[in-house]
Amino acid sequence: MSLKPLALFVKHDGASSRSAVTCQYKCGNACFHEVPNTSKGEYFGDIVAAISRRRLFQGSAAVVIGVGAGSVLAACGDDSTENTAVEKNPGTGVGTTFDVVAPNKEDALVVPKGYEQNVVIRWGDPVLPDAPAFDIAKQSAAAQAKQFGYNNDYAALLPIAGKDNAFLLVVSHEYTTETHMFLGYNPDAPTREQFETALAAHGLSVVELKGEQGTGKLTPVMGQYNRRLTGTSEFKLTGPAAGTDFVKTSVDPSGTKVLGTLNNCSGGVTPWGTVLSGEENFNQYFAGVLADPTAQERGKRYGLGHPGAGQGEVSRRWETFDKRFDVAQEPNESNRFGYIVEVDPWDPTGTPVKHSAMGRFKHESANIYVTSDGTVVAYSGDDERFEYMYKFVSSKKIQPGDTAAARKANMTILDEGTLYVAKLTGDHPDQIDGTGKLPSDKGFTGKGQWIPLLETAADGKGRSLVDGMTAAEVAVFTRQAGDKVGATKMDRPEDFEPNPLTGKVYVALTNNSNRGAEGKAGVDEANPRKSNKNGQVLELVDDHKGTSFTWSLLLVCGDPATADTYFAGYDKTKVSPISCPDNLAFDPHGNLWISTDGNALKSNDGLFAVVLEGDKRGETKQFLTVPLGAETCGPIVTKDRVLVAVQHPGELEGASADKPGSHWPDGGASVPRPAVAVVWKSGGGEIGV
Ligand code: FEO
Ligand code: CA
Ligand code: CA
Repeated sequence: MSLKPLALFVKHDGASSRSAVTCQYKCGNACFHEVPNTSKGEYFGDIVAAISRRRLFQGSAAVVIGVGAGSVLAACGDDSTENTAVEKNPGTGVGTTFDVVAPNKEDALVVPKGYEQNVVIRWGDPVLPDAPAFDIAKQSAAAQAKQFGYNNDYAALLPIAGKDNAFLLVVSHEYTTETHMFLGYNPDAPTREQFETALAAHGLSVVELKGEQGTGKLTPVMGQYNRRLTGTSEFKLTGPAAGTDFVKTSVDPSGTKVLGTLNNCSGGVTPWGTVLSGEENFNQYFAGVLADPTAQERGKRYGLGHPGAGQGEVSRRWETFDKRFDVAQEPNESNRFGYIVEVDPWDPTGTPVKHSAMGRFKHESANIYVTSDGTVVAYSGDDERFEYMYKFVSSKKIQPGDTAAARKANMTILDEGTLYVAKLTGDHPDQIDGTGKLPSDKGFTGKGQWIPLLETAADGKGRSLVDGMTAAEVAVFTRQAGDKVGATKMDRPEDFEPNPLTGKVYVALTNNSNRGAEGKAGVDEANPRKSNKNGQVLELVDDHKGTSFTWSLLLVCGDPATADTYFAGYDKTKVSPISCPDNLAFDPHGNLWISTDGNALKSNDGLFAVVLEGDKRGETKQFLTVPLGAETCGPIVTKDRVLVAVQHPGELEGASADKPGSHWPDGGASVPRPAVAVVWKSGGGEIGV
């Protein structure tokens, strides 16, 4: 296939290879603006019990999740199709044997020799029965609200109980790139139809899939659970923010009914069969200047109100079509985004929830660990430079059972408990020089503390644990609460996920071009490189319910040939280059899989398998790469399938719908379409075995 070369890897932000258009539409140019965290913070120089088994909880589905030994949950479930391996030595590399994919700039999904692939569902494909077929020249909001949304990010695959080789795919649609969606798009004069179409292209899709006997192929089905949630669907806001003056608007004086979810990035599956999704760079959709100086100051901490914020810079101009996107007219609308949303995919008419007890920030995702007594611990990162890591510990215990009632009860677990923020200290504060040079004992290691911010009771009322802030303030302006308690400023905490087989918790820290810059936080042991271009992966041994942890850096990413990289001490001549870790997943053998966003090493983004335990700890191998301009999202690794959400293919400098930067997945002269793809071993068999 011929493809006119475009400027592929413009390092305009001094770090990743993301194109300007991706920065503009995905994050509202977050890296171009002053870092919102100007708090002094506190820098201290730098500033699990093993899980004996993995268990499945059967809601309507069998869902793999980390559950402590002796859990109250009944072991159950038809788990015959997915993730059934019982691993005696989890994370030691079983399941990571494949021919490594070399770094490349192909306009293709490149998979290991002996593996096959198919596109499961693409932007515009029908999700609901009466959806029209996709036609780029005939888009409408009505059509888009029934079709698969744009820029798929998180993906969950939930087996449907009692139905062989059948699944629900739940996918988030993080953002729209209008210049790549609409032929002849004029950023200075978008039409109302384009605005409404873009709003409908956000949110989430739930779609039933059927497998094919003997292969890993998956195809969509018009099933009973199929659903689209969009930028206008109704959500219920719960917790200490709900009903307060911070979230009331002229349309919703109750402060509990939010229309839509925006910028849904990564997510997680709960043990009770629902899906969590993080509202991330919500600020970019809102234009205007907040009139009240206090509100303005608070908004600034989230990237609202800086010159150009949403004011044409992002070229959506939603405020010209709906006043709720103009903070001067609706000052509280933006306070209704930035939460963890929970969707019950088994209830297609149910109202999804926004959990304010889990705090409001640029949530990448939330991922759950269940302790042996049934306490639910949800980990979540705030993806921006110098932001914080959080966890929520439930007061309630998980309800066992395979009923809608149990699921409904469990959907309130994340409304009652304690929200914490992390503070890390290094073991070698004097030995961190910003070059990535290892401390004398050959490891970046340290301890950490969880500092409580907010306690929420069963009635949804909160108790602030932060001096000078009310409970509602902590729930809505959580970043400021983190500032006040001196939380540790991290290098963009993205996916934050417990390993279901070992209980250790992993954080992808994508990059931070400003680390150590003039007037910014300096290096510390967990963020040890100045102008960090390639990111690192942090491993926590957390006292899940408690307030202390130890940590070490598993990977300091980059070109293994350079001295500033570290692969847990593994032989660096035997690993794949990896840059900008973003989303995390675990295979059924307990190995870590990492997808990347913005590879700064002149290759397309990819998906990597990483060995966590034993002699091969740190071995890192590239399993696939995504097409030109794309980011690898939503990785799912099951016994016999690997799924990735290919986000923003073709988002290259100078590209547009009229001048495609990629022709994936349809080939020829087609426009690229974000899509979920599945990869399996030719002739069947287990992945990586
Ligand atoms: Fe949406 Fe943090 O990536
Ligand atoms: Ca991400
Ligand atoms: Ca993940």
